[in-house]
Amino acid sequence: MSSGHGTQPQRVTLSSLARQKAAGEPVVMVTAYDFPSARIADEVGVDLVLVGDSAANVVLGYESTVPVTVEELLVLTRAVRRGLRHPLLVADLPFGSYEASDLDAVHTAQRFVKEGGAEAVKLERGGSIVDRARAIVRAGIPVVGHVGLTPQAATAMGGYRAQGRTAEQAAQLIRDALELESAGCFAIVVEAVPAEVTALLAARLDCLTIGIGAGAATDGQVLVWHDLLGITEGHLARFVRSFADLRSGMVEGLTAYAGAVRAREFPQPEHTYPIEATELDDLRARLGVAGDRH
Ligand code: KIV
Repeated sequence: MSSGHGTQPQRVTLSSLARQKAAGEPVVMVTAYDFPSARIADEVGVDLVLVGDSAANVVLGYESTVPVTVEELLVLTRAVRRGLRHPLLVADLPFGSYEASDLDAVHTAQRFVKEGGAEAVKLERGGSIVDRARAIVRAGIPVVGHVGLTPQAATAMGGYRAQGRTAEQAAQLIRDALELESAGCFAIVVEAVPAEVTALLAARLDCLTIGIGAGAATDGQVLVWHDLLGITEGHLARFVRSFADLRSGMVEGLTAYAGAVRAREFPQPEHTYPIEATELDDLRARLGVAGDRH
């Protein structure tokens, strides 16, 4: 979907995404965690919005994505749902909510669809997770896979590091992606993988591929809202480009507000509500206050 060419934006569906891929039109995905961001993503005409479990770090202040709960992500998913009309809404299944059994996976995915308003869910890794993906797809819910750097397993991977940098690792990563596709995933996110490996992977998949730090060979790209808009403080991953510097603007605006309050320069009369003089006189009389005392 693109609203940037004067055409009326259409609702993004799995079929429209497949058509986009077939036509070689790049797919734009972005994370969002709240209503105003969703409204902006909708207005700009991105194709997919992901309520990522990156919300854990980005908006909830956790050290990693591991602690975030289904309940916490559901609140954010509902807020984003209320702000979206056209993009396809994907919700991340948080760590611990889907791995243990197909039943867990289907139950959690159903919650994100029924209670959160998501149209698809995303889960991380291959291996036994392929069965979870298959179970969710069989339950009628579209699934996005995620291979390469999978932050939910960062500890097991030895930290937040690029993946697929040896032939053996890369071959496994490609096998994982192919298995996720066979399980019915309509899209696969590829994170922090050498571009050459991504190209080999993308050439072997029919489903949509969406990259983050994985080069340009994928059908689309995804970035985290706060990273791409320059709100994130401190270190950014190598693969992030900030397309704006909103943090500076926020600091500037908040500093100006604090200064205006401290200088008693805000609020001004135009920021308050009028009251009829007769009503005020009446009130003063009731309070036993004379003249123009407060
Ligand atoms: O949680 C997230 O934001 C993600 C994206 C980085 C793909 O999984």
